[in-house]
Parts: sequence; structure tokens; C-alpha cells
Amino acid sequence: MPTALIVLAAGAGTRMRSERPKVLHPLGGAPLLAHAIRSGAGLAPERVVVVAGHGAEAVSAAARDAAPGAEVVLQHEQLGTAHAALQAAPMLDGFAGDAIVLYGDTPLIRPQTLAAMAAARADHDIVVLGFEAADPGRYGRLVMDGERLERIVEFKDATAAERGITLCNSGVICADAATLMRLARAAGNDNAAGEYYLTDIIALARADGLSAGVVTCDEAETLGVNTRAQLAAAEAAFQARARAAALDAGVTMTAPETVYLAHDTALAADVEIEPHVIFGPGVSVAAGARIRGFSHLEGCTIGPGAVIGPQARLRPGARIGATARVGNFVEIKNAALEKGAKVNHLSYVGDAHLGAGANIGAGTVTCNYDGVSKHRTEIGAGAFIGSDTMLVAPVRVGAEAMTGSGSVITRDVPDGALAVARARQDNKPGFARKLMARLRAAAGKEN
Ligand code: UD1
Ligand code: CA
Repeated sequence: MPTALIVLAAGAGTRMRSERPKVLHPLGGAPLLAHAIRSGAGLAPERVVVVAGHGAEAVSAAARDAAPGAEVVLQHEQLGTAHAALQAAPMLDGFAGDAIVLYGDTPLIRPQTLAAMAAARADHDIVVLGFEAADPGRYGRLVMDGERLERIVEFKDATAAERGITLCNSGVICADAATLMRLARAAGNDNAAGEYYLTDIIALARADGLSAGVVTCDEAETLGVNTRAQLAAAEAAFQARARAAALDAGVTMTAPETVYLAHDTALAADVEIEPHVIFGPGVSVAAGARIRGFSHLEGCTIGPGAVIGPQARLRPGARIGATARVGNFVEIKNAALEKGAKVNHLSYVGDAHLGAGANIGAGTVTCNYDGVSKHRTEIGAGAFIGSDTMLVAPVRVGAEAMTGSGSVITRDVPDGALAVARARQDNKPGFARKLMARLRAAAGKEN
């Protein structure tokens, strides 16, 4: 069955107290909206329609990032969830298939849950995602008639008896797209909130002789973000889920609760991660690599058997080859280390290429920026860069070449050559003792 996602994301998110539209606040390094869209990706939707309001331009960009074909429609005034869903109607005109309504601020719904809803459409015209709430609070309540859903009553409109119901509405609804739009159009706003409720479509459907059913999920999946505290709670839940998935996939973590993963972190089996490692977006780590404590990685790839850290920083464009080593207090940006290359201590390597087995001594810096432009440094296979070498880019050090410690390399070094670029040492015999005696005498001190 072809499927369309309709993602409601027009709300202002006032309680976030933010300039940024609520659905663009990040969770695991990706906007909430992207999580909502990706939870529906398992259904291979033919259409993704995002209903935007506040900050529509930025919301559109994020939607297209998450789903390149996403279409964005504007809801100028937030008149309720039925009104919001209806904004998608022109986009879905003639679309023959199901529509699933999701909320852009509800990022934790699992793809399996949406698949269960799609499957339940075999038995019902409309399927609603419900959950047993520990504290039903102000959620809409699902009024059941045995296995069948009768109607949804919003908290504000519910009787005391209805408020006693603990089976609540998550907001996710699935139905044939044309049916959904027809029913949403029929929803009025004669209720306590004066809003067009999407939840009204259940009673309207039943009156039309259609059937409605409920699929339930864990309450944790339906966590919606309205405040910064809820955003933090959602992040904690996301991290717990991502860590558990990594452990299941064969990753070793001695203190998983201290490791922070991003929405797209890709860790192979037998990767080892020490405590206090932070993954920004866009990291993949191959089998057998070891990420040591307190390292920070973002936008990089780590080859099999490589060792990173402790206290290493890998920035976007770092490509670390098999068995390469990046040690403590080393920063790598937009640079490739081929197999077995080593940068073990206190160095900055940016806009560079290090051939296989190259060894970079402590305190080496690629001076890649002249204040206007970035320049590249090439280091050949098997080269040995002496400690405290400044490589003033653009510059090339040949294969199996060496640089003397403390050199400032401004010209290319041929293959196999040794470059020494520092002042020659001058020893003055006895001079230190004489100097010291003079200084002490001047200060009026003995010895
Ligand atoms: C809604 C449901 C309620 C359910 C709850 C779950 C209705 C009438 N009620 O209530 O049964 O228990 O979600 O969290 O649907 N939005 C728009 N445009 C609008 C209105 C809302 O885009 O005009 C978006 C919001 O940004 C939000 C989502 O739709 O992402 C839900 O809207 P919200 O006002 O939070 O609905 P609730 O009152 O929480
Ligand atoms: Ca809400």
C-alpha cells in the first residue's frame, strides 16, 4: 500500500522559550522533525508532507535534509490538528494510498510501531496509536467498545468518568488518505478549545459505518517535546535506546551511560568505546577500532583496528585508515591518515594527507591557514616528521623523508631527504656559570 506521511509541525512551541522553531531543536544531533520523519521511513513513504507554520523556511530546509522529496505546506493560523492535517490535502489530491499523521515534536516513535499500525489497517478503516498512561493528565482519551474504538474525547471536553480512562491518544493516526481528508473536513470546532480536532474523525467515521481500532505502544515512545526539560528527557531516552542498540550490535562499552551517540552513529561489531566519548553526527567506526576515553568525534570515519585517543578530537573530514593511531591531545580536521599512520601526541593535522605508515612527532602543526585561505599538506608514505615541526602549507614532504625536530618547513622536501630548518646550535663553554654568578651578584645573593 503506498503511504504518505503527514507531519504536523506548525506549533509555536512557546514553552521552549526559544527563537528556534520547536521541531528544529536537536536530539542526538538531528532536529526533532528529522526523527519524526525517519520513524516513518520504514514504511517507504511515497510522499512526505510537512505542515509548517512558525519558522517555515528553516523547517522546510530541515525537512528536505531528512527526506529529499519532502513537501512543505504552510498553516498560517494554528486552528487545530484537523485544520493542520487538511493543509496537506492539496498535496495528496489523487494520491491513492494510506496517510499516517505524525507530530514533528514527537521523536521517539519506533518504526516497528508504525509498521504495526500499517498492518492493523487490514482490520480497520482507521487505526489510532494509543498508550496506557501512568498519569493520563491532559491527553485525549480513547473511548473503546470492546476491541473497537468508538471515539476520542479531548481532556477539556471529557466527563469525569471519561477522564478516568487511562488509554490515551498519542496523536498518530493512519487511514486511507482520501478518507482521512474527507473526515477532517467534516470536523467542526464546537468544543471547549474552539479548535478543529483531528480526533473528531473517529466518531465521524463510526457514524459513517467505518471501523476504527487501536494499536498500543510503550508510553516512552509517545513522549512529546514542549519544554526544555522534556527535550532533555527525550535526549536521555534517545541515548539509552542508542546505547542499547550498539551493545546489541556487538560494541563493547565499559560505561555506556557516559557515551553519547548521534542519530547516525555507525559502529561495527567489536568496536570498543571507553568511557566519556562523545559522537557528533556523521561518524562511522569499523570493526576492531578502539575509541579511548574523553575523545570527541564528528563527521569522520575510523578504519578497522585504529586506536583513537584518549582525549583526541576528530573533526569533519577526518578519515582514519586501518590500524592508524591518533593519540592524546591531537586534533584532526579534513585529513586522511592512510593505513598505519601515527599522530600520537599533541598535534594539529588539518587539510592534509598522510601516507601509509607516516609518523608524526609530538607537537607537530600543519599551518594550514594564512588568514584568508586554507592550504594542503602532503606527507608521503613512511615519512618521519620530527617533534615540533611546523609544516607551512601548501607543502609536500616526500615518501620516507624526514624533518628535524623544531623545523619550520616552508618548502617541499624530496622523497628520502632530511630537511632541517632551524637555527644551528652554538655552545659557549662556561658561559652559563659566569652568567649565573653575575646575576646573583647583581641581586645581592650569595653563591
Ligand atoms: C493532541 C491530541 C490529543 C493527544 C495529544 C498527544 C487533538 C485535538 N488532540 O493534543 O488527543 O492526546 O495530542 O500529544 O489532536 N499542530 C499544528 N497545527 C495546529 C495545531 C497543532 O501543526 O493548528 C501540531 C503541533 O505543533 C503539535 C501537534 O500538532 O506538534 C499536536 O498539537 P497540540 O496542540 O500539542 O495537541 P494537544 O493539545 O497536545
Ligand atoms: Ca501536545
